[in-house]
Amino acid sequence: MSSVVVVGTQWGDEGKGRITDFLALKADVVVRYQGGNNAGHTVEVGDKRYKLHLIPSGILHPDKYSVIGNGVVIDPEALVSEIESLEQQGISVKNLLISDRAHLIMPYHKTLDEISEDEKGEDKIGTTRKGVGPAYMDKTVRVGIRVCDLLDKEIFEAKLEYNLKEKNRLLEKVYGVKGFKKQDILEPYLEYAEKLKGYVTDTSVFINEAAKQGKKLLFEGAQGTLLDIDLGTYPYVTSSHPISGGVCIGAGIGPTLIHKVVGVVKAYTTRVGKGPFPTELNDETGDFIREKGYEYGTTTGRPRRCGWLDTVIIRYAIRVSGLSTIAVTKLDTLGGLKKLKICTGYKYKDKIIKDFPASLKVLGECEPIYEEMDGWDEDISDIREYNKLPENARRYLERLSELCDIDISLISIGPKRSQGIVLNSIF
Ligand code: IMP
Repeated sequence: MSSVVVVGTQWGDEGKGRITDFLALKADVVVRYQGGNNAGHTVEVGDKRYKLHLIPSGILHPDKYSVIGNGVVIDPEALVSEIESLEQQGISVKNLLISDRAHLIMPYHKTLDEISEDEKGEDKIGTTRKGVGPAYMDKTVRVGIRVCDLLDKEIFEAKLEYNLKEKNRLLEKVYGVKGFKKQDILEPYLEYAEKLKGYVTDTSVFINEAAKQGKKLLFEGAQGTLLDIDLGTYPYVTSSHPISGGVCIGAGIGPTLIHKVVGVVKAYTTRVGKGPFPTELNDETGDFIREKGYEYGTTTGRPRRCGWLDTVIIRYAIRVSGLSTIAVTKLDTLGGLKKLKICTGYKYKDKIIKDFPASLKVLGECEPIYEEMDGWDEDISDIREYNKLPENARRYLERLSELCDIDISLISIGPKRSQGIVLNSIF
């Protein structure tokens, strides 16, 4: 038995779906453990492009099990439509399993996400407005509704009634907008229940059994380290735990079941939403990276903010997730830039900071310290051997590895399954 966790080391959108899809070739079970349909993975197989939001990338491999763990928040409307869209594209979802303990995103969560973002004005977080934060809030204050509740009409109706009393008071009295009618939620949700019930099970039992039988497990993180509710750039974070520590809670396993943690590092940095970003490029180099790397949100279509690679962030991700190795993605995007910069530390007032700071005020005032390197012009997307990469591309990777004191196991140089270079096998 072996189990591998894949996490994002930056602000999400590192290309985890691409790496998970590749590693899933060797895995038996692929598990999502946090987040919801705020996530978005684009995976290209042959000439087809699949956009996944809730369902693990393992679904694109017909012989693997794909599990949505208890730590995920599920919008059943979105899940049903993702299942239907995959089926229409000829992808079987018969091996999908959904945790009976996962919490539901309800229509009022989406409304509250919208309203609280609008109310914050300039201070908005820039959420995906999918209701993820409010659903996790309800889970924490212990009024959330879970998948197992959805499958029991009486319980679901009672919990919905209880929640609507409170939510409608909030919506109508505090925000001055129309509340929800029970029937308008009950009817479609019971239809979703019918469509989903065949996939629902105790996924913790399934995963632990699979481990006992010697199956290979792959845990797929959504978002990234700096969006972690505890260790990210709070409050500009999501409401779950994308770091490796989130796996145990969100999948119902013990830490002794985890053997390797792979951090996915995009060859440069991007972020969506607000908050300080020390290496951000508000110039034509930033525009070049955005256009060449197609840096637009899979879920929202928003243009991503782009900047140089920041090794302060990568070292932080290595520490908080205990990374064993890294996979570097989108190296091809940097081709064509004459000079490349890597941030090695921050200058804050008259001090040099090597560890990622907690305070956003401090982070906002940090000036990146850069090392400049020569770029390469060649198109590297068809290269399959490390030694055939241009010398400057190899130097860039070697410097990243050196500055972070970690080995690189995989390099991806294009969106297709075949566009990768394997340096060390992970499973
Ligand atoms: P929420 O997860 O929709 O509540 O959004 C909270 C923050 O996380 C915002 O800054 C979002 O832009 C960011 N975020 C959420 N999901 C993703 C993702 O999959 N990639 C990148 N950023 C994300």
